[in-house]
Amino acid sequence: MPGLRIGALELSTPIFIAPMVGITDRPFRAFAREMGVGLTCTEMTAAAALVRAPEGVAARLLDLGPEEVPVAAQLVGNDPQVMADAAQICVELGADLVDVNLGCPVPKVVRLGSGAALAREISRTAAVLEAMVRAVDVPVTAKMRTGWDYQSINAPELSRALEDVGVAAVTVHGRTRCQKYTGWADWDEIARVKEAVRQIPVLGSGDVRDTALIEARIRAGAVDGVVVARGMLGDWNFLEQTVSQLRWGEPGPTPDFADRLRLAKRHWDAMVVHHGEQHGVRLSRKFVVWAIKGCDGAARLRARVADLFTQADLDELYQDILHAGEGPTGWHRPNFTSGEG
Ligand SMILES: Cc1cc2nc3c(=O)[nH]c(=O)nc-3n(C[C@H](O)[C@H](O)[C@H](O)COP(=O)(O)O)c2cc1C
Repeated sequence: MPGLRIGALELSTPIFIAPMVGITDRPFRAFAREMGVGLTCTEMTAAAALVRAPEGVAARLLDLGPEEVPVAAQLVGNDPQVMADAAQICVELGADLVDVNLGCPVPKVVRLGSGAALAREISRTAAVLEAMVRAVDVPVTAKMRTGWDYQSINAPELSRALEDVGVAAVTVHGRTRCQKYTGWADWDEIARVKEAVRQIPVLGSGDVRDTALIEARIRAGAVDGVVVARGMLGDWNFLEQTVSQLRWGEPGPTPDFADRLRLAKRHWDAMVVHHGEQHGVRLSRKFVVWAIKGCDGAARLRARVADLFTQADLDELYQDILHAGEGPTGWHRPNFTSGEG
């Protein structure tokens, strides 16, 4: 299956990683790239903070590396001028694409009229995106939910309006704002967006966990690509297998327990190198918990995660997890019911 073109950007495969606050930092993106995804994305960044920040601070906020090609930066905000200025900063700092978060459900964001709240007002949203499209010469895209609630599904009209002002692609998370992260994503609603737009690519988001299903949806033309979110947590190979499914029609070998864990450990170590020992080990804790799922004696090992402070602690726990091996149920995905976006 061929890659995907968004504006002038040629992407090797239509499998991307979703922007995720607290997750998709630079070490995470490096791993996703290694797994072969077509595009990575930063965590959402407040446009106002970026515009106000002194130069060095703005660069630290986005934390884009020269090795990150191609990479998207995601912004949240609702003022056309601020969003346009922030988009320019993203491009100056190395973003190949700028995405706008129109789906964040958290009260502190919607109270300000941003995220999912902005998406309720189609003409205001179009004005924001139009200002950004005019300000930068990289593709500008938007990520939205299906609507605010079941009574106000508007993703098809919104996407069409955004296409009219030059937005190069849309991602649709198949849940409403009121659903937050519960229930199932509605892929029929996502397909309706695909029918509503004229030619821009539509990417689907929500419960992306099954490589064969992803391939079937893309082949059927229901979406042009997908963004993987909670489905990749604790399971780097899921990305690699999904990319392989699209490219070769089969996911390739399933890694054994030790291989999966070895990959996870490389990521924990990369976080320590990038963020420094104290902060990096702290950030790695949740990833350690996700990797332990299904391990023999998982509860006992998990109880030690709060005591991880140093690289040596991380190394020791890793050896003990490896030694414990896989439990009878095998690894399973974390049951994630909260988050932002
Ligand atoms: C911890 C967490 C953080 C998230 N952060 C963002 C974000 O910064 N921007 C965004 O557009 N969506 C964000 N999302 C939403 C995801 O990108 C994705 O659309 C959503 O999780 C649905 O996919 P899933 O059911 O496969 O997890 C976040 C989700 C989670 C769970």
